[in-house]
Formats: sequence, structure tokens, C-alpha cells
Amino acid sequence: MSDLSETGGTRHADLTPWDRAASGWNAHTGAIRAWLRASTDLMLLSAEIGAGMRVLDVAAGAGDQTLDVAARVGTGGSVLATDLSEGSFGYARARAMESGYGNIETLLCDGQDLPLADASFDAVVCRLGLMLFPDPARGLAEMHRVVRPGGKVSVLVFSTPENNPCLGIMASTAAKHGKLTGMDPFRPGSLLSLGRAGELEAMFGQAGFSATVSTTLSAPFMLASARHYIDFVRESGAPVIAMLAHLDTAAQQEAWAEMEQRLASFNTATGWAGPNELLLVTGTR
Ligand SMILES: C[S@@+](CC[C@H](N)C(=O)[O-])C[C@H]1O[C@@H](n2cnc3c(N)ncnc32)[C@H](O)[C@@H]1O
Repeated sequence: MSDLSETGGTRHADLTPWDRAASGWNAHTGAIRAWLRASTDLMLLSAEIGAGMRVLDVAAGAGDQTLDVAARVGTGGSVLATDLSEGSFGYARARAMESGYGNIETLLCDGQDLPLADASFDAVVCRLGLMLFPDPARGLAEMHRVVRPGGKVSVLVFSTPENNPCLGIMASTAAKHGKLTGMDPFRPGSLLSLGRAGELEAMFGQAGFSATVSTTLSAPFMLASARHYIDFVRESGAPVIAMLAHLDTAAQQEAWAEMEQRLASFNTATGWAGPNELLLVTGTR
């Protein structure tokens, strides 16, 4: 049985956008798992995760990659899944419980302010979370502080806007319908905020990491149709949902319909393949 202890941590009275999107993100776990399979494997390999290690998973969400870590560290190791969203965590705990892993713990906390001891982990991973932090440099500094000397920190984020056209289509269409101006794609906390060439690697250096290695990974999202992608984003894409939240239902529907029509350009003979490119950066403390 899973131990599933939740230690200390920060309680957040207000719902985050990710709390509201948590059920959608959880409902699409199968599709997300397939989409991120190869990238996740490479992230865990780069972090050199192996049997017996104590690993921190930052911004773990519904805990999909946490289970992969738990499998790799085995019964002699453990993984602590942390996230800001209480909503996501309910799913993470349920998934860990169903999986039967007894080596997963969860902790509700801000990745920019980890209530964890210095050098208390062998490795740290963060899948598609760091770019959402208001202050990612602080998040990286915290990861550097809690990993042991010689340990790896491996982070996966979206790369450039040009190589993530689906995100660009969603954001620009939502901005147009929501009459939102001045939406810099690199603004802090946005999906593409760490997509400027060289920026994340430099941030690793500033946080004190050495031997930083960076790789771009093609990660197309393969689904039956553009409609399936729209359904996924409508239910789980917190940043896009937030951009449309002030519109009435009919106006929101118009925006989603235009996104679907624009995304249909990625239809193929066998379904829909939305291009995505991820950036995997790993540093050593
Ligand atoms: C796109 S989801 C990714 C979840 C999971 N890592 C995965 O790949 O399935 C982003 C997650 O980052 C979390 N998050 C955003 N800002 C955070 C912060 N400052 N501290 C901790 N978690 C944060 C959200 O709550 C959400 O669960």
C-alpha cells in the first residue's frame, strides 16, 4: 500500500487556475502520458534517477511523472511530489494509491519557497511547471538548494513560440476574442515564458549549477482531431481558460470554434498532429 503521507507545507485558501483545471488535466492523463512519454523518459535519464534515490518532483500536478520516478527508485527509494494546486494533488494521491507504490509522499507548497532542508534530495525533476512560476530563477535556486552536491536537477519546459505553433494559435485567438492587448509571449508565468533561446540555460548558471546540458525535443501531440485538442485545452489549459473567463458563454464558444478551425491546419491523413517542441535542461549542483 502507498504511504501517501502529506507533510507540512503551505495551505492556499484561494483556488489557483490549476485547481480549476485539475480535473481536466487528470481526465486527459492517458493522452498527456503518450504525448510526453519520450520526453519524460529522457528527463528521468538526464537526472540519473536510479534505485534507492530520494527524488523531489516539483509542480507534480496529477502525478503522472511521479509514478515513473517511483518505479525507478523502487522500494529502497522515495519520491516527494510537490505542487501549489490542492486540486491536482487529490488526483496525484488517488493515482499513487491505485498504483500501489508505497514510496510516494506529497507536499502542498510553492516551488519558489520549498519548506525542505538543504541538500536533502539526490535529484530533482520538474515537468512543464517551471515556466509557470512568477519567478522561475527563484524556483531554480530552491531546487539547487535542496539537491545534494553532485546531484542533478532536470527541467522540461516549452521551447520557442515558432516551434510551438499550437500554443501561439490558442493564445493569439484567445487574446483577440478577449480583447487583451500587450500579451508578450515571454511574460513571466506564461507557457512560453522560458522559450527565449539560451535563457533557461543562463538561469541554471546563475542559480549555481555546473555542467548544464540542454536538448530540444520534438513532442507532437497526436490526437484523433483538432476537436480533441480543443476539448483537452478547454478542460485543462488553465492559461487559455483564464484569458477567456470574462467573456459570456457564446463569446467563449466563438473563440474556441476559431481556434479549432485554425488548428485544423495540422490534420493529417491519419488524425491530428499538433507540433510541440520542449526544452530539457539539466544541471549539476
Ligand atoms: C502543466 S501542469 C504540469 C503537471 C505535471 N508536472 C505534468 O507534467 O503532468 C503545471 C503544474 O504546475 C503547478 N504550478 C504552477 N505554479 C506553481 C508554483 N509556483 N509552485 C508549484 N507548482 C506550481 C500547477 O499547479 C500545475 O499542477
